[in-house]
Amino acid sequence: MRRRLALAAALTAMAAAQTAAPAAQAGDLDALIGRALFRRAWIPGTASATANDGLGPLYNARACSACHQGLDGRPVAVAPDGRVTGENLVLRLSDAAGAPDPAYGRQIQTAGVPGVDPEGTVRRDGNGRYHLADSAYGPPAAGVRVGARAAPPLRGLGRLAAVPEAAILALAASQAGGGLRGRAHRPEGPEGPVGRFGAKATAATLEAQVATAFALDLGLSTAERPAPGGDCTRIQAACLAAVRGDARPEIGAALVRHIARYLASLEPPPAPAPDPAGERLFAEAGCAACHRPALPSPDGPVRAFTDLLLHDLGPDLDGGATEPGIAPTEWRTAPLWGLARRLALGAGLLHDARAAGVAQAVRLHGGEAAASRRRAEALPEAERARLFAYVGSL
Ligand code: HEC
Ligand code: HEC
Repeated sequence: MRRRLALAAALTAMAAAQTAAPAAQAGDLDALIGRALFRRAWIPGTASATANDGLGPLYNARACSACHQGLDGRPVAVAPDGRVTGENLVLRLSDAAGAPDPAYGRQIQTAGVPGVDPEGTVRRDGNGRYHLADSAYGPPAAGVRVGARAAPPLRGLGRLAAVPEAAILALAASQAGGGLRGRAHRPEGPEGPVGRFGAKATAATLEAQVATAFALDLGLSTAERPAPGGDCTRIQAACLAAVRGDARPEIGAALVRHIARYLASLEPPPAPAPDPAGERLFAEAGCAACHRPALPSPDGPVRAFTDLLLHDLGPDLDGGATEPGIAPTEWRTAPLWGLARRLALGAGLLHDARAAGVAQAVRLHGGEAAASRRRAEALPEAERARLFAYVGSL
């Protein structure tokens, strides 16, 4: 696997070098290789050819781009009987403390290599909520809950990576004691860096997020997540039997870096035309306190409309599954840049794509955001429409 990957990467690099502008820098070349890896469909290993099991044994999709098609977020495809047919929505599982299910692990994998049955399918009910169906190992363990996560847009993440940690911590400190209690999350432990990526800020770097995707979504191991069977658990005999591999990660560190470099090279969504009235309403309703219109960075302001902090948004946004140290109702303030494009594509909003538009997303804001929601909903109708139109133009 490793030799094949190295060869594939080298061939990709050569092809990229031929088509890229002559002035391409080394960093651009890394990003081009990363783009090819992002689009690559991984395959299961074959016993004769590889030391590793390759894709899976359990997985959700074969390529990053299968879920992040187009990079802007997409609607979740659902059959008339409610079965989710698209890959871009996954079900996570955990107990209230964030511990995974003993049989299913952290995520329901809806596909398996030959001989390994999928863990189940995902279904949407009449309320737009997602559930586990056709579960291969019976119901999840007592106390374990399931929650859906939709694949988010990926543009501009390099800009979020560039926001100094001190700026994030200063925002958290400025909120302490008020109705807002945003907090920085440190996924690698109390001494580790602040999390910025993922709906619960569980990855401090793009590399960490890429490694998580390889483990949970594709069943491929990396140095950061070395388990060769991905999310396969001790109870899953067929999955365990299909795991092959020596101690080496299936995906080498250089490949993780190339993909991170590709993600970092993606420009942020275009800024909207100035709209002073909309901006004023956004600030007056208190939206801007969490959805900060600009964060500082060495390369200039980052206009992502987030504070990168976790906030408790109350019971309507209880996501079921969570991560250790994070309440099921806590979420990283979702960046709002690129919303216009996502709405045009018909992609749903919020962590589980439940909201069809801005008004519905705001209606579900409770907890720390309840006062802001009330202010927005108390606006005279024309001003409220103005506010929501502004948000939808970002
Ligand atoms: C099966 C679908 C699926 C596949 C395959 C997949 N992702 Fe994702 N991705 C998601 C979902 C769902 C989330 C949101 C998870 C969360 O926030 O908890 C996500 C989140 C992310 C984020 C965080 C974005 C942000 O705003 O913080 C990045 C970066 C990312 N994915 C990159 C990748 C890369 C790189 C790959 C391939 C190695 C990949 N993804 C494969 C579904 C997928
Ligand atoms: C206390 C902090 C806070 C305040 C105040 C707040 N939000 Fe949010 N907002 C969040 C968080 C956290 C999320 C992510 C929730 C989720 O994914 O379930 C979010 C998500 C959203 C989304 C969905 C974005 C997406 O990517 O799916 C929209 C739209 C939105 N907020 C608009 C607003 C507007 C408009 C206001 C003011 C009326 C507002 N918010 C006030 C924290 C806040």
